[in-house]
Amino acid sequence: MQAPPALAESQSQHRYVFDSLKTSEVEEDSARLDAVHTAFTAYFGGNLIPPALDDRPGWKPVRILELGCGHGSWAIHAAKQYPEAEIIAIDIAEAPKRPLPPNVHFIRADITKDLPSLFPSESEPSPASSGSKSGFDLIHIRFVLTHLPPPTAQSVIRTAARLLTPSGGGGGGLLLLEDGDTNNTLLTSGPGDAGNKFWRVFHRVCADADVGSKLSGYLRDCSTDGVQLEVKEYMLLMPAHANGDDQALTKLGTAFHQFVMRTARLVAQRGNNQKSDGFTEELLDEYEAEVASPDCKAEHAVYFCAARRL
Ligand SMILES: C[S@@+](CC[C@H](N)C(=O)[O-])C[C@H]1O[C@@H](n2cnc3c(N)ncnc32)[C@H](O)[C@@H]1O
Repeated sequence: MQAPPALAESQSQHRYVFDSLKTSEVEEDSARLDAVHTAFTAYFGGNLIPPALDDRPGWKPVRILELGCGHGSWAIHAAKQYPEAEIIAIDIAEAPKRPLPPNVHFIRADITKDLPSLFPSESEPSPASSGSKSGFDLIHIRFVLTHLPPPTAQSVIRTAARLLTPSGGGGGGLLLLEDGDTNNTLLTSGPGDAGNKFWRVFHRVCADADVGSKLSGYLRDCSTDGVQLEVKEYMLLMPAHANGDDQALTKLGTAFHQFVMRTARLVAQRGNNQKSDGFTEELLDEYEAEVASPDCKAEHAVYFCAARRL
């Protein structure tokens, strides 16, 4: 496969809270994303596609695209799981500061603007009946759409859906979206008020902290572009505290809570970032204590959506 050329740094405005990370922050950002990736894939038995959404176990995608790849946790795993595949990993930030497997090709670009020019032939309308096999077999977007305003997130999903391999008689490509949703979290934080304060700040840090539950609707709306998708949704409601009944889910939930706290502390430490307003060390300590208390009922919701192109 001929990889598209890298684009010059995008000029676009974007709202990601960790844009232009300092060198000293890169290691922590990468470690927190690796840790949460490892926790989810361990929960899913080593699989990149949650088994509840996997309509073709054993399927081997050969063209894979990851949008907003960060430090490459998922792309590197995908390269090992599918050694025959070519993986294009895109991010608006600099390339991951670690060696990438030979089948991962990084492109620095803005996914809200640059996809049609990066993949012009795949972006053209291609009827399912054409038999054409251009496009990607698997496209993955995780913890990125929460950082985009809703209309932009929706537009990225529409563009990504058009980049999926059309079915051409067999199965088409799969678009896998993963993102959080704080609706439940705000309702069930804990005995004190620190949880509610914490999640209110979190709402300001994200462009849409409740995107998770909207993803399946966004995917279904792709039919107005003539892209028909079979959409499956799976939601994990994980305890943030260590008192859950389900051991595996509690292990995942506590790992996810650690990820949220590491994210918040990184935001708090970035004193020059106006979005850090409100994430004080004091509030973070209070929220940690609230989650550690035996009465805590805090839960985190993460939504997974798999959309197969028909
Ligand atoms: C929370 S990180 C998630 C990284 C990765 N998906 C993961 O799960 O490990 C969000 C990533 O989205 C990237 N991002 C945000 N806005 C973007 C845009 N407009 N175009 C490309 N990447 C973007 C950020 O640079 C960051 O690496």
